[in-house]
Amino acid sequence: MSLLIDNIGELVTNVADSGEGGPLGILRGAALVVEEGRVAWIGPARPAPAADRRIDADGAAVLPGFVDSHAHLVFAGDRAGEFVARMAGARYTGGGIRTTVAATRAADDATLRATVARLRAEALRQGTTTIEIKSGYGLSVADEARSLRIAAEFTTETTFLGAHVVPPEYAERPDDYVGLVCGPMLRAALPYARWIDVFCERGAFDADHTRAVLTAGQAAGLGVRVHANQLGPGPGVRLGVELGAASVDHCTHLDDRDVEALAASDTVATLLPGAEFSTRSPYPDARRLLDAGVTVALATDCNPGSSYTSSMPFCIALAVRELGMTPAEAVWAATAGGARALRRDDLGVLRPGVPADLSILAAPSYVHLAYRPGVPLISQVLHNGVPQCRP
Ligand code: NIG
Ligand code: FE
Repeated sequence: MSLLIDNIGELVTNVADSGEGGPLGILRGAALVVEEGRVAWIGPARPAPAADRRIDADGAAVLPGFVDSHAHLVFAGDRAGEFVARMAGARYTGGGIRTTVAATRAADDATLRATVARLRAEALRQGTTTIEIKSGYGLSVADEARSLRIAAEFTTETTFLGAHVVPPEYAERPDDYVGLVCGPMLRAALPYARWIDVFCERGAFDADHTRAVLTAGQAAGLGVRVHANQLGPGPGVRLGVELGAASVDHCTHLDDRDVEALAASDTVATLLPGAEFSTRSPYPDARRLLDAGVTVALATDCNPGSSYTSSMPFCIALAVRELGMTPAEAVWAATAGGARALRRDDLGVLRPGVPADLSILAAPSYVHLAYRPGVPLISQVLHNGVPQCRP
């Protein structure tokens, strides 16, 4: 079965310099053919090759599916009360993670699986065709392994976050907990994980513990990513760069040396503005990173505590309004940037041969994703060439 999408007013390919808009590689009056789940052809709408089926984009914009490279979907319960308290002035410290750990441990597999399925579907409706999913609310050997086993039912981009916080039963023995994470827990996680991550922050894991966990994961064959410099300055960003992390995430509190280290590396800085929105915290400075030559990605950080959103369009709008990004930079960061953060060169781009992951907008331009915040502009999503929904 082949599928032709024609009458595309604005096609964002992310094939740099192949059209207008520099990195976005924009083609106007374009068509795209899908065969066997992959992009088979891209060219002018007239003449376009014949196909078994046709979607008329009616002059709308089409762009690569969003690549959400940072999400915590395996959890039980929510923390709406904590959000209300924050909006009344309470500070976010990450302490609520333990509340979600208790609820997650008490939940059965079916409950956890249903939550991941619900959030995955929610994200897909908003144009996310690839999502990374972390463990990190189990924090025992069995609960981390089952979190990753469930995550792996939904994505190949799974991340072992046993070093999220020290669970209560190890509160007096953090070194022992790090030993558990680096040994039995890592072994149990390995069959289901592609990445390892650590929350490197005051109150979570210090530089020595972070290094121990990341190097153990690396030695076992996992790729490295780090939660770094979210709540205050710290060693996480430079440690991530030193270890060759694919991405350091949050990057809210950076000094000049952090920015220089990122600029001289191929580590992506993944910004998560949903977290600053939901914790009412100062936003990271994307402009400073971009002007220094750092590769920036945007992701949701979807989790029940600091950022309970699955919406990449919302994050794009925040990035443009609050982080100093242009609409073009934000859309690139949410697609090709996310793919870089996952070291995937087949995602976040539309060219022959890659998976046919794309969104058709109810708008003439990608700019509307930021210009019309909160409006459901994703009118159709194709994932591996299969139309998903038409809300
Ligand atoms: O990325 N910062 C650490 N982890 C999550 C928050 C988890 C939570 O509050 O439950 C984050 O923001
Ligand atoms: Fe996170």
